[in-house]
Amino acid sequence: MIDREMSASFPLLILLSLYLCCPSIAVRKVPHLEEQERPTWNLFDTSNYGKLQLDNGLALTPQMGWNSWNFFACNINEKVIKETADALVSTGLANLGYIYVNIDDCWSSPLRNVKGDLNPEPRTFPSGIKALADYVHDKGLKLGIYSDAGAFTCQVRPGSLFHENRDANLFASWGVDYLKYDNCYNLGIKPEKRYPPMRDALNLTGHTIFYSLCEWGVDDPALWAGKVGNSWRTTDDINDSWESMTSIADLNDKWASYAGPGGWNDPDMLEVGNGGMTYQEYRAHFSIWALMKAPLLIGCDVRSITSETLEILSNEEVIAVNQDPLGVQGRKVSTEGEDGCRQIWAGPLSADRLVVALWNRCPEATTITVKWELLGIDPTIAFTVRDLWKHKDLSGNVGVFSAQIDSHDCHMYIFTPQTADHSMVM
Ligand SMILES: *[C@@H]1O[C@H](CO)[C@@H](O)[C@H](O)[C@H]1NC(C)=O
Ligand SMILES: *[C@@H]1O[C@H](CO)[C@@H](O)[C@H](O)[C@H]1NC(C)=O
Repeated sequence: MIDREMSASFPLLILLSLYLCCPSIAVRKVPHLEEQERPTWNLFDTSNYGKLQLDNGLALTPQMGWNSWNFFACNINEKVIKETADALVSTGLANLGYIYVNIDDCWSSPLRNVKGDLNPEPRTFPSGIKALADYVHDKGLKLGIYSDAGAFTCQVRPGSLFHENRDANLFASWGVDYLKYDNCYNLGIKPEKRYPPMRDALNLTGHTIFYSLCEWGVDDPALWAGKVGNSWRTTDDINDSWESMTSIADLNDKWASYAGPGGWNDPDMLEVGNGGMTYQEYRAHFSIWALMKAPLLIGCDVRSITSETLEILSNEEVIAVNQDPLGVQGRKVSTEGEDGCRQIWAGPLSADRLVVALWNRCPEATTITVKWELLGIDPTIAFTVRDLWKHKDLSGNVGVFSAQIDSHDCHMYIFTPQTADHSMVM
């Protein structure tokens, strides 16, 4: 385990590795590229990539689906969950990969039953969770449930701390596919102690269940949770505001080198469509979450989704960045202007491509320019540049690329190297 002083100096280390990596890559010429196995985008520190992985076969790419909390909070019932499953299918979102239908807090009664089992709230879930799982499975979707690594859940339902095997067996018997495990009423016991018992209990059921840790970033879970869960929250809860979304993106960025297939940093669920941000801000939220390989868990009411929200959430090209098999978390690579509001975020993708997001966090429109050197690549290499929101190929400049961007908007591109063309020119 890395100690706190070391983790505090991560941004410095990343800057240092940026500084050290680029000159050597910049002097590489195309003929040399062919002698090397492949171009290396070592701009991005992936030294911790895939080191600690929970080996349950899940989360090879970040999980996608829906969760009830951000829109419904405690106002849930089995009708809402079923209608949401229906809507995920009818809108086409399910086909795009949004397959987990995750019930958050408040599904359970305030008391365990006489056997000691958790008990669905009879007023709101009269048919029980097994029936709901069957319904969701019949649609080709998966069902997620919620519990807490404490004495109670945040809404004061019974927690699973010290009941891990009993509760995991119950979830498995219902056919549940996913567990979000919260952190309220935790009796002051460290998360490193409270989260592994549920991992082991889920594993012992013999059912493959996605394990999503929600311990709010306490004790820097990126440093230990890869062995425990398939994803781990890195921050406090998101809320439907520009301030919350941007601050969480920045906090999550710090842990980029720890994400990888099997285990992802989780900056919390999407607020896209809930009304507290503009179209441009939601588009930026979705772009940056996709680039950061965050779980894409829709948090709005899919039953009454607007065409604008659907357009954002169903952008297949942006989803493909999130689900890219290379599985490296993109990160913030440069900031300029007042408060660093002209930002470039980037990351490597499979097939030697790069994803590049130009994010204008300034209060007015501005031009953002990205130079190849910043990305650690030979400035003489030509790229085709694909605009993932305009769905258009742009004419490829060599060495530099700029765009005019509205306030709080984010443009997102895939850069594909044209190395074959380039060697003909040489
Ligand atoms: C249980 O853990 C073992 C060892 O990590 C793993 O191979 C197996 O797939 C896990 N089983 C389930 C059901 O998660
Ligand atoms: C939302 O999050 C921001 C940033 O963390 C915080 O300042 C604000 O108080 C939060 N708003 C609500 C309603 O919780």
